[in-house]
Amino acid sequence: MTAWSVPGLDDSAAEKVRTQLQERLVALIDLQLTLKHIHWNVVGPNFIGVHEMLDPHVEAVREMTDATAERIATLGGEPVGTPGYVATTRDWDEYDLKRASVDSHLKKLDEVYNGLIADHREVMREFEELDLVTHDMMVEQTEQLEMFQWFVRAHLENAAGELKK
Ligand SMILES: [Fe+2]
Repeated sequence: MTAWSVPGLDDSAAEKVRTQLQERLVALIDLQLTLKHIHWNVVGPNFIGVHEMLDPHVEAVREMTDATAERIATLGGEPVGTPGYVATTRDWDEYDLKRASVDSHLKKLDEVYNGLIADHREVMREFEELDLVTHDMMVEQTEQLEMFQWFVRAHLENAAGELKK
């Protein structure tokens, strides 16, 4: 438990927000590393499009990571971003593709976004009650993440709007 947060925010709300933000920080660090891993390992037709699409996503997710960590610090907490902490506290499996086709990576990345965005939305709703400033940050992040998932899905989609399985 931390001794202070921001004026006007009660201690138990601040503690909940810091805890939830730490989980989002782990997810975003994991995502930025995974996006680079895909950038390096994707092969086959459309290689260059996907390879180049991912770098701006990495940049945006790095900024989200920074903002999330700094929000934890602003609220009097200690953001933890070390590799060992990320690897041992996340509750999902390691991204398991290495060199693989565009379709394989993008299907897998679509699943990564499904989990991450659903969790973002869940805490976004909780933050609406707990802290509107943090809520606003999460709304912005979720909007961007949903757009990135659309970019991914657009590669998997056919003219009927169905996603490749
Ligand atoms: Fe690169």
